[in-house]
Amino acid sequence: MEQYIIKGGAELKGEVTIDGAKNAALGILAAAIMADEDVLIENIPNVNDVNVMLEAIAHIGAKVERIDAHTVRINGAAITSCEVDDDFMRRIRASYYFIGALLGKYKNAKVPLPGGCAIGARPIDQHIKGFEALGAKIDIKGGYLSTTAARLKGAHIYFDVVTVGATINVMMAASMAEGQTIIENAAREPHIVDVANFLNSMGAKIKGAGTDTIRINGVSKLHGTQYAIIPDQIEAGTFMCMAAACRGDILIKNVIPKHLESITAKLTEMGNTVQEYDEAVRVIGAEKQRHTDVKTLPYPGFPTDMQPQIAVTLALAEGASIVTESIFENRFKYVEELRRMGAEVRVERNVAVIDGIERFSGASISAPDLRAGAALVIAALQADGISSIDGIGYIKRGYEDFEKKITALGGKIKYINDPNITEYA
Ligand code: EPZ
Repeated sequence: MEQYIIKGGAELKGEVTIDGAKNAALGILAAAIMADEDVLIENIPNVNDVNVMLEAIAHIGAKVERIDAHTVRINGAAITSCEVDDDFMRRIRASYYFIGALLGKYKNAKVPLPGGCAIGARPIDQHIKGFEALGAKIDIKGGYLSTTAARLKGAHIYFDVVTVGATINVMMAASMAEGQTIIENAAREPHIVDVANFLNSMGAKIKGAGTDTIRINGVSKLHGTQYAIIPDQIEAGTFMCMAAACRGDILIKNVIPKHLESITAKLTEMGNTVQEYDEAVRVIGAEKQRHTDVKTLPYPGFPTDMQPQIAVTLALAEGASIVTESIFENRFKYVEELRRMGAEVRVERNVAVIDGIERFSGASISAPDLRAGAALVIAALQADGISSIDGIGYIKRGYEDFEKKITALGGKIKYINDPNITEYA
């Protein structure tokens, strides 16, 4: 069983270079199949979710050439099927991006319904609302969503909730609909802007991405392009919290500081030092951190994908902090694991009340999901003693070379794939 063995207490000092944004890459890879020409994508993160997405793209017949770990060439001309195999949806929820891409290009798609996951029910009603507004017929049967449209016509769509996935999915379909689509109450995350910029580089006509109103004038064809994906704001934020929680001094390179503003603000409020450069931030952890409160919100609010990581950091601050998770209904599953390490945290529905302690103590714990897994690694790096963390397959879905990057900073972490090894030899 894959696990990390971590010896806590090492000083973390040095530099780390951030990879491409996973959640931008997943939308961009799906959108790449909408052209019948070569699309060269650079700075993709070499993580499991991206690799599964590339397998799914090849599986429907598109040409996929992996130039190197971070570069891929895709050509959608040879696509033979608009049906995505169930195995891919089981392995990665973002397979639902194929609906928007295939519906936009071929006016039909058949994709397995995504299930819920560790952090919540994660319905796709807003995706469906958008597709139907564009004129698609949706049929849900046998665990599959099938959709066809004689033609897609631009529409005025108002999302009932701010949703990253539906904004990206509907933006893709609308980019090849006839006429203008207006998406109101759109998500504003950096990865939405990245997907829109990518589609525009293919000849789409999208304006307003990054605001809550996106206007799309449909085109009949998209062409090839070459595009580099933005850096991952959540990977960067994870290392920022690592520096703060472990009183380290880490220069985090290849970032867009603007995307990190809410994380910088919170870590600074807590007494940590955050120095911003053009494409880097340096975080120097405070000797004593102050408590503060955090509420997760859609961008530019504090990202839900950083909630476990900031909670772990707050669990080491002086005084009581409150963390409110307003996006997902079940994103505190890691708290039980953190309490095994001595954390003083109580959860009531979507609010965690955290009383800071000096130091975690090493324990055997399990990662319940991707971001919680990364947060538990931070806790183990700060802890007194040895920790073993299993379920790290989740972490490998979204963090490239996580243990290598931590080791380079001085962290004592080992990747083990042998259940008999439990010591940090
Ligand atoms: C994306 O998920 C990310 N995943 C998530 O990151 C991230 O946590 C989330 O956006 C929020 O930022 C990818 O980009 C692959 P949503 P997504 O649609 O698109 C509700 C990670 O760790 N909702 O913005 O599925 C939903 O239940 C992952 O990298 C509806 O009600 O999130 C949630 O409460 C975890 N109906 C809220 O909206 C819908 O049709 C936000 O969900 C769609 C969503």
